[in-house]
Amino acid sequence: MTKTARAFTNIALIKYWGKKDQKLKLPYTNSLSLTLDRFYTDTSSEIIDSSKDIIYLNDMLLNEEQSKRIIKYLDSTRKKYNFSEHFKINSVNHVPTSAGFASSASGFAALAASIDQTMALNLDKSQLSILARRGSGSASRSIYGGFVEWIAGDNNNNSFAVPIDENPDIDLEILSAVINKKAKKISSTSGMEKSVETSPFYPNWVKLVSSETNEIKQAIKQKDIQKIGEIAEHNAMSMHALTLSAKPSFTYFEPETVEIIHLIQELRQKGILAYVTIDAGPNVKILGTHKSIEQIKSYLNNLSDVTTVVANIGHGIQYF
Ligand code: DP6
Repeated sequence: MTKTARAFTNIALIKYWGKKDQKLKLPYTNSLSLTLDRFYTDTSSEIIDSSKDIIYLNDMLLNEEQSKRIIKYLDSTRKKYNFSEHFKINSVNHVPTSAGFASSASGFAALAASIDQTMALNLDKSQLSILARRGSGSASRSIYGGFVEWIAGDNNNNSFAVPIDENPDIDLEILSAVINKKAKKISSTSGMEKSVETSPFYPNWVKLVSSETNEIKQAIKQKDIQKIGEIAEHNAMSMHALTLSAKPSFTYFEPETVEIIHLIQELRQKGILAYVTIDAGPNVKILGTHKSIEQIKSYLNNLSDVTTVVANIGHGIQYF
């Protein structure tokens, strides 16, 4: 009986934005995330008697072009772990794809965990995080639940995620305001590359991430939601400043993104505890307490073209 691996996506509170090694996906900085319980990928892999992998995503057979990235990943995994088996991969994404939700994070974490199971590689969590990272950087963090830090490292073997607090007892919820489900125009891979190469602020970003990572870890320890929110929002805005200051300039923001940022700032003036963070897409994730998220939901539901989903803190990799 083939087992299914389930990985949950994560939202970065301190963003990963820029690689010093593209091929190995080694980042310039550490990053820090919260694993969410609402968005996940279920993946199973079955060994087949063939020299080609077959990939199903959401019950649809992918063609050569669509499966290119996954097959390249499987090829490098075969090489690294010295086996030659090919697979029928079945992956079901419970994440809106390509809309600023890191479906590649849960996707590659689940795929890495599934191959580990099927091939009985017996990887420990650090090795599994490294294997997931080779697929997509942010996937390295989805191995664990709760608050997770990805240590940048400087080679393939020391760049992996570590748990900070897998079961935090904290009144923190995340509301995802989904603006549209159209595919994003600039992938995070290429967006970060452009930022590193052309934004004059990139060296400052590296310094900022280092200090904000220390500060947010302190705030997490103290369960200080206001402090966590302030740091996460500032970090996200600073990441987006890198895209705006790139040459040529670009942005992931849509008009609704800005509208929601303004709304949250106004609601904060009224005493509602809420902060925003945004990834490489137009959607806005709002951090707050159970009470503040309930209040915000009712404001957002008045906006057209916006749907809301509330997530709580999620688990690490699971098998069933
Ligand atoms: C903005 O992990 O998707 O979500 O490593 O090139 O696959 P690749 O990039 P990816 O980038 C995620 C960027 C981000 C911030 C974050 O999750 O830390």
